[in-house]
Amino acid sequence: MKWSVHNEHPLEESHDYLVVGLWNKPSKLEGLLKELNDEFEGELTSLVKEGDLSSKVRTVTKLPSLGKSKAKRILFVGLGKEKDLTLDSLRESFGATGKLLKDSRVEKVSVALDTFTAEGIEESDVAQALTEGIELATYSYEGYKQKSNLPDVAIDVLSVYTQADAHEINAALEVGHVLAEGTNSARTLVNMPANILTASKMAEYALDLAEKYGFESEILGKEEMESIGMGALLAVNQGSAEPPRMIVLKHKGKEEWTDVLGLVGKGITFDTGGYSIKGKDGIVGMKTDMGGAAAVLGAMEIIGKLQPEQNVVAVIPATDNMVSSKAFKPDDVITSLNGKTIEILNTDAEGRLALADGVTYAKQHGANYIVDVATLTGGVIVALGLDKTGALTNDEALFERVLEASAEAGEFIWQLPYTESDKKRVRNSPVADLNNSPGRDGHAIFAGAFIGEFTEGTPWVHLDIAGTATTKKAHYLGPAGATGAMTRTLALLVEQFLLEKKE
Ligand code: BES
Ligand code: ZN
Ligand code: ZN
Repeated sequence: MKWSVHNEHPLEESHDYLVVGLWNKPSKLEGLLKELNDEFEGELTSLVKEGDLSSKVRTVTKLPSLGKSKAKRILFVGLGKEKDLTLDSLRESFGATGKLLKDSRVEKVSVALDTFTAEGIEESDVAQALTEGIELATYSYEGYKQKSNLPDVAIDVLSVYTQADAHEINAALEVGHVLAEGTNSARTLVNMPANILTASKMAEYALDLAEKYGFESEILGKEEMESIGMGALLAVNQGSAEPPRMIVLKHKGKEEWTDVLGLVGKGITFDTGGYSIKGKDGIVGMKTDMGGAAAVLGAMEIIGKLQPEQNVVAVIPATDNMVSSKAFKPDDVITSLNGKTIEILNTDAEGRLALADGVTYAKQHGANYIVDVATLTGGVIVALGLDKTGALTNDEALFERVLEASAEAGEFIWQLPYTESDKKRVRNSPVADLNNSPGRDGHAIFAGAFIGEFTEGTPWVHLDIAGTATTKKAHYLGPAGATGAMTRTLALLVEQFLLEKKE
């Protein structure tokens, strides 16, 4: 999507579509709305009164101007009461606008930006929410249909009218655009089928990012993993015809490689469950078990474009989890990269194994803080539902930062308890240091607690996106399928690390 910023008066220019914010202010239209109302000879007031023009938030009404205005059509975006509007609902309102425009196959749109400002929501906030909301909402996954049934139009030209500083508005539009692009890339990775997006393909994708954005990169293959003893990831890969990959990308935002934020994403390209095999219903959709990896790669794309002065290392253990005569099995004992031994009680609890080596490898690459993201457990869905990401942490201060970033992104996170008794349960094995599946009671917590065993004092936050990585229903900010959950949160976390350092 391209855009331009103008400071002319929006009603003095011609537009095919002019987007205007409509507040719920009974019997009073102000500013640009009042001018529009005058153009419409007072008709807007009666349309609002009779309910033909809704000021309800996330509701968009199209009104042809029948020659009364230089704008051919006006799109009124309901914003509700000023005191109730949040950045989240504004972003979603722009999402609803984007969907309506896409469905009407509109390519050129003008926006009266200043009609959307409110207390605490400045022009630049509106600008960011505008590109972010529209581009998230109008995402679609092409797939592999010979004949696409999707409209191939996208909003191409966005003309933004504002009295605010054009530089500032341009920058904010760019940030919203970049955040949406990274999220949409993550969505596409998750939507891709596992026979096409293998671990090697994911590594190639990461190398492309590295080349484009100047990241340092390292890809480990099976032999390299064997030589350094990356036994947990190797165990998960043991039954597969596809070789595993450990993917590392480094964004060097500072002179020195210190104060490094590690982002570790679960990259299980398909999860059959292994010998603890999933049922025929539970297995469908397990191509999305690399949602954590996708969020990390999407965030790296954003980081590559925004180039924050913050060191980041992305680590993605990638493989599928298959059955064969060579596959690992329950009762096996394996040795992870950091030397801890693990009794396998359930081969379907494979994500934590891959992540254990991922976390250790991130530490070996200098990570001083770690955030892992994973479609880890059905348990988190039972606990929190499908719209909340579950979290565990060993460091409340780091968790606070993640929470702040997630609030800015509009992605809900809820912290689960992480207690000594949880640690005891994962350490309880007659034959090894740890077991990979202590039971079904509270297993979202045990899964996180298992990963915690490998952090060894490094501040860490674990994000379980099993519920949030995909959705069965279309929503204001996108279609059914992959959501790109936590992509924007991770990217904004990196930005925030910077702000805190500068203060
Ligand atoms: N990939 C699954 C978790 C999952 C479930 C993701 C549903 C998305 C939707 C994970 O590897 C898994 O199978 N977890 C098991 C853990 C159990 C064996 C302790 C689960 O949640 O049942
Ligand atoms: Zn599994
Ligand atoms: Zn899994």
